[in-house]
Amino acid sequence: MKSSRIPGFYKKTVEERRELLNETIGLTEDDLAVLSSRQALPIETADKMIENVVGTFPLPLGLGLNFLINGKEYIIPMAVEEPSVVASASHIAKLVRDAGGFTTEATERVMIGQIQVVGCADYDVAKQAVLEMKNELMEAANQAYPSIVQRGGGAKDLDVRILNDSPESNYGKMLVVHLYINTCDAMGANIINTMVESLAPTIEEITSGKVYLRILSNYADRCVARAKCVIPPELLVTGEYSGEAVRDGVVHAFEFADSDPYRAVTHNKGIMNGIDPVVIATGNDWRAVEAGAHAYASRYGSYRSMTKWSVDKEGNLVGELELPMSIGTVGGAIRVHPISQIAHKILAIESASELAQVIVAVGLAQNLGALKALVTDGIQKGHMALHSRSVAIAAGATGEMIDIIAEKLISEKEIRVGKAKELVEQYTK
Ligand code: MEV
Repeated sequence: MKSSRIPGFYKKTVEERRELLNETIGLTEDDLAVLSSRQALPIETADKMIENVVGTFPLPLGLGLNFLINGKEYIIPMAVEEPSVVASASHIAKLVRDAGGFTTEATERVMIGQIQVVGCADYDVAKQAVLEMKNELMEAANQAYPSIVQRGGGAKDLDVRILNDSPESNYGKMLVVHLYINTCDAMGANIINTMVESLAPTIEEITSGKVYLRILSNYADRCVARAKCVIPPELLVTGEYSGEAVRDGVVHAFEFADSDPYRAVTHNKGIMNGIDPVVIATGNDWRAVEAGAHAYASRYGSYRSMTKWSVDKEGNLVGELELPMSIGTVGGAIRVHPISQIAHKILAIESASELAQVIVAVGLAQNLGALKALVTDGIQKGHMALHSRSVAIAAGATGEMIDIIAEKLISEKEIRVGKAKELVEQYTK
């Protein structure tokens, strides 16, 4: 890929942007036709994806630009309805790029399957019995899904927990078997569920208990990706705000979110503003990623900031984000949804681990975009500029009229559809 830095991209028409994208990454005629189609997801395909289909629900697909991650260029497809998200991610990516780019890493891709057992006569004995059969159980799980073993993955470990052990517990005692599975490039829901379901009868035999749930855990805390950026203060100068003032403001904002769940939820929502659009565009299960991310933000006992912002010895702003990333590059909707296939082509990633790292880098960028705005002009200025365009469109503005009406709405400080309609009438007279 050529550079992900495409100056003035936002000023181009949609058609020109597609051409530029094509020049940068090379798309097929079919890809271009899908991107320009009014029904990119054919109704026949949609009808096979879920039940009771009556239509499809399109979202804008934008490109996060300027991303440099571990020295590699990334153009990042983002499917999202909220104005400012793509612009803000691209703006921060440019800034971080000037500071050398994001660095990222990921753990091995180990996902968790759970088996719940109740009604054991002696839970400690049952636990011991399962642990003694650990190797046989892992072998049986692998036999239930041999293709993942052929791909280098499969069951890697197993352990057992006893829940509600204390006499004060309101709930019944239960045994929970955790099967740890390397799902390679798949998110792995089918692999994991098949494996844990296959073990249930043997687990009942070993424990003399009754198995109820056999399901993956979306708390994928052994499948984690991390992103980091280090930004010198001079790159943070914003209008009349010095780089140091912005840097210190961002650290104060982090400390606020890290100490107060009321703020942390909004702060983290801003991070998911960057993460979800990439997860959606790449055909992944964003509810799984959301659920895992928020649980991870509570891992120290209270709900806290997902990111960490600090100042290093040289006075640079240092940002870090670590999250579970139960995503994949194969399986699920990825190969079914035509746009998701194009998104993967645009991203040019080679593995689920690489995609996970890109996603956390976008989350980190999105967080800095929000905090930088919040500690300087406030969020509304940029939002209103973009919102005014939506208002102009809602009032019937088209083509070049959209920007003209939007600018007028801002300068007259009246961003309302009624006002925009008046302006459209004047303009078209
Ligand atoms: C809006 O979608 C996201 C923000 O509220 C995030 C934040 O407050 O950090 C701006």
